[in-house]
Amino acid sequence: MAKPRNARKHKNKAAAKKSPRKVIKLASARKSKGKSNGLPRPSSRPYGQAGKALEGVKILDFTHVQSGPTCTQLLGYMGADVIKVERPGVGDITRAQLRDVKGADSLYFTMLNGNKRSITIDSKHPKGKQILERLIKHCDVLVENFAPGALDRMGLTWEHIHKLNPRMIVASVKGFGPGPYEDCKVYENVAQCAGGSASTTGFRDGPPLVTGAQIGDSGTGVHVAFGICAALYQRTRTGRGQKVLCAMQDGVLNLARVKLRDQQRLKHGPLTEYSQYAENIPFGEAVPRAGNDSGGGQPGWVLKCKGWETDPDAYSYFITQAAVWEAICDLIGKPEWKTDPDYAKPPARLPRLRHIFSTIEQWTMTKTKFEVMDICNKLDIPVGPILSMKEIAEEPSLRATGTVVEVDHPTRGKYLTVGNPVKMSDSITEVRRSPLLGEHTEEILSKVLGYSAREIEEIKASGAITAPEKEKAAAA
Ligand code: COA
Repeated sequence: MAKPRNARKHKNKAAAKKSPRKVIKLASARKSKGKSNGLPRPSSRPYGQAGKALEGVKILDFTHVQSGPTCTQLLGYMGADVIKVERPGVGDITRAQLRDVKGADSLYFTMLNGNKRSITIDSKHPKGKQILERLIKHCDVLVENFAPGALDRMGLTWEHIHKLNPRMIVASVKGFGPGPYEDCKVYENVAQCAGGSASTTGFRDGPPLVTGAQIGDSGTGVHVAFGICAALYQRTRTGRGQKVLCAMQDGVLNLARVKLRDQQRLKHGPLTEYSQYAENIPFGEAVPRAGNDSGGGQPGWVLKCKGWETDPDAYSYFITQAAVWEAICDLIGKPEWKTDPDYAKPPARLPRLRHIFSTIEQWTMTKTKFEVMDICNKLDIPVGPILSMKEIAEEPSLRATGTVVEVDHPTRGKYLTVGNPVKMSDSITEVRRSPLLGEHTEEILSKVLGYSAREIEEIKASGAITAPEKEKAAAA
């Protein structure tokens, strides 16, 4: 590569002697012709065979429970080499939480720790700290979600890490950002409540509700993964690492931003798309809970379908999108609503939504949720069946796309996990089972960190990678 570039330089020098104008012309022509932006030539390998998006990126995964592991699993799906550091004998606490198979790692752990290698290190043991420091020098990114201050208490301050490896990106999940609650330990539902989601979820006449989707833990893990990828990209220009922090409160608020939108709209009048408006119930000072009202400008509701009396999931979400109103009227046997001034235009319909949805429900109750989907889709009416987790686990199309994947595990057997929800044409995800506790300790010590067999024996004898017998017994 260097040769032709130099050759071009000489050519330009010669041209400059002749005419400076010509040089400018040549330079701009080269820019527009090559359009390389410093990138290599486009690969000639077939798509999907040119490696993975994050191949070569080494992650020191110091995460536990859910938020951090979600992030590092995604990075692993994208091809990064994820080395999970766990406490000897105990490991990530979720290995033993909600256990369904005696003696085997729980689904809580296995579904969040695929595509990783596990090394056990006691980070508070002097020898353990030395191993960690070697890992810091070797890796590109350290990801952690310990309680505030825990990393510092291990002696791994940002300053120390940065001195060992100025290129290292240090990514953290914490419950809250700097402020009054920065020292708090935080779990999923605390974040859902503090991030504004719970106060806006549920029915108006009931208490705040948390959602089943783990927007605090997994949601924040996704945010951090995004921050890490951005920091890796910036590092290609600056050559240095940086701190990446995502507070769970901030992550939840980012996902609940439409409710902060509504909070500001309240100053200018009632929220007309909320059924509360149609019911003539005055709004208070804060955004209320809106039940199953659609969050957008198109009214929607959950409606019963055939079988609802016995099947708790025989429901469909139905949106009365303005553009397909006429098709809806014909479908439910109310063609007169197309021209009736009380129903023909969206603003006229707002105070009548309850009646409209109960009329549509008379129709949906005659069909299964899948029939509703088939019929409405053909008419471009936006609807969605309420799918149970059983239905999702058995859905062939989700298996076909690799969104639901069956993995084999040496101690628990086959289990389902969620594969990479992001599909890329040149970075194909292969989902691998989660590692056993410390499964790769020796491999990483010798092959990654270059310890000799004698040194490894010394490390083993020191207790830095093995648990005291009583901890082992407690974890079993
Ligand atoms: N070797 C030795 N010690 C280790 C270790 C290892 N490999 N890995 C962790 N530890 C130690 C930590 O240093 C810490 O010790 P310290 O308190 O003396 O500093 C201790 O284990 C406990 O870590 P901590 O993070 O406090 O765990 P916890 O179970 O008490 O709290 C959370 C759990 C999730 C509440 C807390 O980690 C937290 O708030 N994290 C940030 C927010 C978050 O991610 N929450 C959602 C989790 S899904």
